[in-house]
Amino acid sequence: MTKILALFLSLSMESKLIFSFTLFLSLFPLHAKNLQTYIVQLHPHGMTNSAFNTRLEWHLSFLDRIITSEDSPSSRLLYSYHSAMEGFAARLSQIELETLRNMQNIIAVRHDHCLQIQTTYSYKFLGLSPSREGAWLRSRFGHGTIIGVLDTGVWPESPSFSDEQMPPVPKKWRGICQEGQNFNSFNCNRKLIGARFYSKGYHASSDISRAPAPHEYISPRDAEGHGTHTSSTAAGASVPNANVLGNGAGVARGMAPGAHVAMYKICWFNGCYSSDILAAMDDAIRDGVDILSLSLGGFPLPLFDDSIAIGSYRATERGIMVICAAGNNGPIPNSVSNEAPWITTVGASTLDRRFPAEVHMGNGQILYGESMFPGNHLPNAGKELELVYVTGEDRGSEFCFKGSLPRARVHGKMVICDRGANGRAEKGLVVKESGGSAMILANTEINQEEDSVDVHVLPATLIGYAESLCLKSYINSTRRPIARIEFRGTAIGRSRAPAVAMFSSRGPSLSNPSILKPDIVAPGVNVIAAWPQNLGPSGLPEDSRRVNFTVLSGTSMACPHVSGIAALIRSRHPMWGPSAVKSAIMTTADVTDHYGKPIMGGSIPAQVFAIGAGHVNPERATDPGLVYDIRPSEYIIHLCTLGYSRSEIFTITHRNVSCHEVMAKNIGFSLNYPSISVIFKPGRMGKKIKRRLTNVGFPNSTYSVEVVAPEGVAVKVRPQHLTFNHIYQSLAYSIWFVSRKTIATQKMTFAEGHLTWVHTKSSHYRVRSPISVTWVDMKK
Ligand SMILES: *[C@@H]1O[C@H](CO)[C@@H](O)[C@H](O)[C@H]1NC(C)=O
Ligand SMILES: *[C@@H]1O[C@H](CO)[C@@H](O)[C@H](O)[C@H]1NC(C)=O
Repeated sequence: MTKILALFLSLSMESKLIFSFTLFLSLFPLHAKNLQTYIVQLHPHGMTNSAFNTRLEWHLSFLDRIITSEDSPSSRLLYSYHSAMEGFAARLSQIELETLRNMQNIIAVRHDHCLQIQTTYSYKFLGLSPSREGAWLRSRFGHGTIIGVLDTGVWPESPSFSDEQMPPVPKKWRGICQEGQNFNSFNCNRKLIGARFYSKGYHASSDISRAPAPHEYISPRDAEGHGTHTSSTAAGASVPNANVLGNGAGVARGMAPGAHVAMYKICWFNGCYSSDILAAMDDAIRDGVDILSLSLGGFPLPLFDDSIAIGSYRATERGIMVICAAGNNGPIPNSVSNEAPWITTVGASTLDRRFPAEVHMGNGQILYGESMFPGNHLPNAGKELELVYVTGEDRGSEFCFKGSLPRARVHGKMVICDRGANGRAEKGLVVKESGGSAMILANTEINQEEDSVDVHVLPATLIGYAESLCLKSYINSTRRPIARIEFRGTAIGRSRAPAVAMFSSRGPSLSNPSILKPDIVAPGVNVIAAWPQNLGPSGLPEDSRRVNFTVLSGTSMACPHVSGIAALIRSRHPMWGPSAVKSAIMTTADVTDHYGKPIMGGSIPAQVFAIGAGHVNPERATDPGLVYDIRPSEYIIHLCTLGYSRSEIFTITHRNVSCHEVMAKNIGFSLNYPSISVIFKPGRMGKKIKRRLTNVGFPNSTYSVEVVAPEGVAVKVRPQHLTFNHIYQSLAYSIWFVSRKTIATQKMTFAEGHLTWVHTKSSHYRVRSPISVTWVDMKK
């Protein structure tokens, strides 16, 4: 499904390309066409022995020496970086690039990648809503913490960014409120304390961006809605009577309603460019954010090629916690992105809030469906209509592609559209514009029973795969199939939740299988949060309805939930570093749903590669008892164990290390990660792993270990008890894993288990780590 989605995206952009390319030809000289954007990483100390006074001069000197045309070096420079990495982004020709590569002090040169925001929506960015408000938002923690959000911008007038209850801006804040189109410095306040925008990479990326896209604001103002949604999910103020066209009514609040937001707008209509992302991280590190929240990503890359991983490493060194969406490419294995061990990688789960909208078919059968439609009072809502499913037209009519539905066949009818390929709200618009009166969105095999409600421009409901088979066989069985949709409003607590969303990207990580990813899951399906007040709730330009909130799904929506919870932990424990906060979130996560049964992932209990450590539990996460802490230097040793070369490690860490020496000094090293991933290779059927726990609970505490061993593996832990005498005391333990089966019998298999340190006196403290075991056949 993802592949089709990506294909459609590029198709939809192609039409834009043709249009604006014509424009471009008439306005610009041709030579610019051969330039591409590159991110050039320099030696961090390379300037020391040179004659340059400023970094900018030094960076420009490289361009000065390589540019073959009459262009001035500064006309080619997009950004000069220092905090997220040393280097710059520039437009270069192929010949210039070759010259540059051979120059001194060049560490790495990377293409500017275009990343996407991680809603399940294809080209329009729709939103999310906080779940379990009571449990998450009982306190007003989050005060004093600054969450930097890299996204599509913000709609500052949204009631979610009111600063009425907010404390003053923290003294450490050094950011700005950058003015631009429809955005002034008075748009910032004590809630939204900073806003900047980065468009140089985007504008340079391709000819298409030279013609401004419709509704784009060259400022921090959000034209899509995604960034307004994610930032309000992380730290939106309390807004009573929030609803989407009457649905889901309640108090809207971010996870950390007391935290401050700084928006770094880096995503534009055709994506988010890594040169812009790095520039934003560069500023955010200096501005003084505590947490960086990135609901975007691409396909997994090696860490030394991944600008987000590199910028995040630098941020982590400065004590900033980086939280990223895992991606929406599930349930395909190995699809997880943003998988660096210093990043917290967040998958998506479902909520227990539903919006039932049943399909009553002419044969008396009722199919369960879900919809966010404003009830039964609008034209055609709840009306009995003739059903039509247009197939065999060879134009994607079963998906309701634009222009694929013959008016004569769909006029006044209830049209069935298969899910996938194009945006769900777009299908509704196509049906409406083709004269249809209502729509049934039918899940296909890949979506199974997953519901994802959207705000449509006409009466519509979404049904699961089993229901869609039922519906289609009813259509086959009669000459004049009819149905009506019954909208039942909002229902809470009727279904089994949370469950891992089908679309949530799955591990194991390809580039780094020794770290279990994703780390955690959080609500990411049917989330309600703030929305630009000039956009309709469907996000489509044609939608003239006005709302302050809308509903969206995606790991994009899950990520800011964890960012907000991290802010709660940070404000309660200001001295904790990023890895301690991450550990607190992971070791306290839930693995059972509201019925006390295992959290599901599709039709089976969710595997660790879907759910990571579990479903985030904010109340427990603020008081974990023990944490697994990691010093930044330990990541370097870890990179050595991954077999990265000296120059690759230098690219990521700016540290010149000899792995030979590092490994000799750290025999048997294992990264002190809160989860455990064991890889058995032929001839190596035993593995010893070390971990170190730090006491952050009661000063005098004894914990004992409980292990559920993965199938086919013997597990031994020494010592079995850990007795702490004071706060911040650290104690180590070792775990031995021995495989009981040989690889010869299997090509590649997985097993999972877990290990929990339980406080001997207080059942409150249970510090749980998931274990994954992988048998790898090297011959394969
Ligand atoms: C409905 O009929 C079409 C054409 O005869 C067939 O391809 C399809 O499988 C049928 N669908 C169901 C669900 O019975
Ligand atoms: C949106 O919020 C503003 C400010 O609180 C309010 O005046 C307006 O009525 C709201 N609009 C809708 C559609 O609820």
